[in-house]
Amino acid sequence: MADMDVFLDRLDPDMCVVTAAADGEEAGCLVGFASQCSMEPVRFVVWLSEVNRTFRVAGSAEYLAVHLLAREQHALAEVFGGQTGDDVDKFRQVRRRHGYGGAVLLEDTEAWFVGRVVERTPGGDHVGFVLDPVEWGGSGTSGGPLLRLSDARTIEAGHPVD
Ligand SMILES: Cc1cc2nc3c(=O)[nH]c(=O)nc-3n(C[C@H](O)[C@H](O)[C@H](O)COP(=O)(O)O)c2cc1C
Repeated sequence: MADMDVFLDRLDPDMCVVTAAADGEEAGCLVGFASQCSMEPVRFVVWLSEVNRTFRVAGSAEYLAVHLLAREQHALAEVFGGQTGDDVDKFRQVRRRHGYGGAVLLEDTEAWFVGRVVERTPGGDHVGFVLDPVEWGGSGTSGGPLLRLSDARTIEAGHPVD
């Protein structure tokens, strides 16, 4: 598959932090595999690795929250991408509140929405959570650059793959 890197290495998606809450548990991780997947209705899909704690909590969550970060919010990306909730409580390190349906909203992000999970679709080692937006907001006033994969490549994924 080495040749496929010619394609994959050109990708530089905006990163997001996806949070999940269910059964008294909260989780969240940094996600690069995400995109709008429908126009009418507007829907968005986030792909969660089956090994992550966030995936396990999201498995029984009715709603997920998706946040876009400003480029300078690298430290926030490091909390959610470089640590696993299996070992640390990420939410003690950030400011957050609760939103629609008990979703966990991170304060001070550029833009966010809460989506109802309408489908879980297998993709390989990640599962796609198709989301129907029910609440949204964000500071977004700066309109500055978002944190992208090229900004986050230095973060070593917090959850071991095996
Ligand atoms: C640049 C980068 C991109 C990532 N993209 C994804 C992704 O698309 N989906 C995913 O489930 N995990 C992704 N991760 C991995 C998780 O964010 C990371 O393993 C996290 O520590 C998992 O935390 P958790 O076990 O608390 O859920 C990415 C990590 C990095 C550093």
